[in-house]
Amino acid sequence: MDGEVALYTEDLGVRYYIQRGVVKALDDVNFRLYKASLTGVVGESGCGKSTLGRAIIRVLPPNGEITSGRIIYNGVNIVELSEEEMRKLRGREIGLVMQDPMTSLDPLMSVKDHLLETILEHIEVSRDEALKMAEEALSSVGLSRELLKSYPHQLSGGQRQRVAIALATVLKPKILIADEPTTALDVIVQKKVLDLIEDLMRELSLTVMLITHDIALAAERADYIGVMYAGHLVEYGRVDQVIEDPQHPYTQLLLKSVPDIENISMVQSIPGLPPDLVNPPPGCRFHPRCPYKMDICIREEPKMIEVGEGHYVACLLRRR
Ligand SMILES: Nc1ncnc2c1ncn2[C@@H]1O[C@H](COP(=O)(O)OP(=O)(O)OP(=O)(O)O)[C@@H](O)[C@H]1O
Ligand SMILES: [Mg+2]
Repeated sequence: MDGEVALYTEDLGVRYYIQRGVVKALDDVNFRLYKASLTGVVGESGCGKSTLGRAIIRVLPPNGEITSGRIIYNGVNIVELSEEEMRKLRGREIGLVMQDPMTSLDPLMSVKDHLLETILEHIEVSRDEALKMAEEALSSVGLSRELLKSYPHQLSGGQRQRVAIALATVLKPKILIADEPTTALDVIVQKKVLDLIEDLMRELSLTVMLITHDIALAAERADYIGVMYAGHLVEYGRVDQVIEDPQHPYTQLLLKSVPDIENISMVQSIPGLPPDLVNPPPGCRFHPRCPYKMDICIREEPKMIEVGEGHYVACLLRRR
């Protein structure tokens, strides 16, 4: 029933090194992206969503490192590729729209400079051909060629986000990782940007990983959802499985925290905060906030188990 897997991770672990110690940002993450479908990655701030997206194309910050596991794409383990091989893969096979495009765009470079640099760095075409590709990329994200001359600060938030998407898709990658592409935008522009991503998906048969703290948005747009908590993937499945039949207490609470326009007073925020990942809680990392905590949850780390076809959860309550 499920499609072909485009990319998957196996027991992926990432660490950040800071003065205070080691941040256990990802542990044992078994995540997958199905071809030509949209997978939402959700969870509160600091749960490791961006880290997962950046690890997949190996653009972690300098103090970050993949310390365990594998990332398999087309039968190749991305973790083992040389920097040279990675440069070929980035943009061409897998594109990334970074969280906050203002910081990922160079304020001293025009939109045209950005696009031409990306194109000419990766493929051998003439400047004229590259310019044509740049114009096409802009028009595919609904922007006029007039904007080629603009600098990032001259663009609106929505335009910047579109430019970032044009940059990530100009080489027609197979996979697009979009990290909070709509968070800073008003709901109308948000909808347009998400519609645009869906259009590109159909046009290019793109596989999309949509990172968002907004589970309601993921429920609306995604085919599959992965829920992250404190550096662990705690639930994964088709959108109907995760949204209609959430198995992890954290997913259940996230869903209850969604504001409902008719019932705004019913919103329940999740008590407490995600833990400090330098010293994560032992056992299940969610136990300090879990309404169903058992003694064993403090001692034993839950592993992912399959609870329905393609529906996985890491919770000791679901242990058989
Ligand atoms: N460069 C870094 N150095 C040290 N720790 C970092 C760094 N980047 C992220 N972290 C830590 O790694 C953990 C995961 O962060 P990450 O940015 O992946 O979370 P996120 O789910 O994307 O959050 P947000 O929703 O706020 O974007 C957090 O504990 C965060 O503090
Ligand atoms: Mg993030």
